[in-house]
Amino acid sequence: MPAVVLVGAQWGDEGKGKATDLLGDKVDYVVRYQGGNNAGHTVVIGDQSYALHLLPSGVLSEKVVPIIGNGVVIDPGALIGEIEGLQARGVSCEKLLISANAHLIMPHHKALDRVTERYLGKARIGTTGRGIGPAYGDKIARMGIRVQDLFDPGILQKKVEGALNEKNQVLTKVYNRRGIPQEQVVEEYLAYAERLRPYVADTSLVINKALDQDKVVLLEGAQGTLLDVDHGTYPFVTSSAPTSGGACAGSGVGPTRITKVIGILKAYTTRVGSGPFPTELEDEMGDWLRTTGHEYGVTTGRNRRCGWFDAVIGRYATRVNGVTDFFLTKLDVLSGLETIPVCVGYEIDGVRVDEIPMTQTEFHHATPIYEEFPGWQQDITGATTFEDLPANAQAYVRALEKMVGAPISAIGVGPGRHQTLSLRPLI
Ligand code: GDP
Ligand code: IMO
Ligand code: MG
Repeated sequence: MPAVVLVGAQWGDEGKGKATDLLGDKVDYVVRYQGGNNAGHTVVIGDQSYALHLLPSGVLSEKVVPIIGNGVVIDPGALIGEIEGLQARGVSCEKLLISANAHLIMPHHKALDRVTERYLGKARIGTTGRGIGPAYGDKIARMGIRVQDLFDPGILQKKVEGALNEKNQVLTKVYNRRGIPQEQVVEEYLAYAERLRPYVADTSLVINKALDQDKVVLLEGAQGTLLDVDHGTYPFVTSSAPTSGGACAGSGVGPTRITKVIGILKAYTTRVGSGPFPTELEDEMGDWLRTTGHEYGVTTGRNRRCGWFDAVIGRYATRVNGVTDFFLTKLDVLSGLETIPVCVGYEIDGVRVDEIPMTQTEFHHATPIYEEFPGWQQDITGATTFEDLPANAQAYVRALEKMVGAPISAIGVGPGRHQTLSLRPLI
């Protein structure tokens, strides 16, 4: 049976958490395949709002087995804090499984993330400061420390020592910071080992067996297509592969088992951190989108940069992810506008282009070409079917669908679980 991938189609914060939660009653397993606690996924159930960072959004559905896959980087202290926070609110995490192959975020990763950003000055990426880049860097450099290392104190001791021998030199001699005491780190991480042991498993085996038994597995991406280290706006990206290809590597599932790729697409665009953003509005209109859409970071509390919908990016997301269905979120936020501009192409150095340009330099020069769509004045947060939407809202959705080149199968008209219009089944 199917493995279904859910992926952010823009720069993150598209509403992936809500979409995953909504699919909770149709799926048996939800697997996070990349990223770490740089993610912030808000799920609203009734009058309760949950902010998830490392735990898959499926954790809020009772029948779902939530899995943290091998492609995720785990800050164990943050994970335990999140589990305890949910337990205190009556949410059980006892079915949670964590890959033994996932890499750990260590104290030196967080220290290096902060200090390298400071050194970059104006050229900084605007990371979340959670140690994500340095942790993935060490993974690729084959210097990482994995979840399984927590259960062999001798190995843990050796690996921490090996890592800090180098990183403390960098911290003290390059960045003029204090070194991190080895013994303290080993002690801290051995204490985490005891807490995490019950959850640790060979998750690739578990997921593949589940698929053999016709279970439905949702592979949940964090961040978004344009933050992908290969396909995003490099270097202003995260250090993993949120795009659908990353779902296989980050979970241990072969591509032949994936039957659908659901792209989560916001009805306008937002971005947190630095980097190019052609449709950004640095005026009152941008402020209006931020206030109306509550566009403030779930993880860092930063203001999200806001702008109009960019169809070039939507089309690109369809292409690099092989999107089969889109979930268009936050359509309700656009209610009340006279007209709604949509970016249909770019002008780059006097030439019109319809695709993301090949080089980053060109992308930095891209100015949007807009087409105006008539707005609607009605509040649509109570709509339950597509036909309930005002004609102009329907036309806006249909126009976006045509431009991005894949069907819009669900539409969000509010943050609540049920404020969703279904056009065709997503799973
Ligand atoms: P994620 O990182 O992709 O999971 O998205 P975030 O949770 O960071 O940001 C999306 C925000 O939009 C959250 O506060 C959601 O509760 C909210 N949201 C999701 N879908 C809708 C929608 O259709 N309408 C409105 N008004 N809010 C939504
Ligand atoms: P969700 O899953 C939006 C951004 C950061 C920064 C860049 C690199 O909630 O959509 P990192 O800490 O990953 O090294 O930062 O990526 N970023 C996100 N932006 N939503 C996210 O996650 C993000 N996770 C990272 O702001 O620009
Ligand atoms: Mg988010």
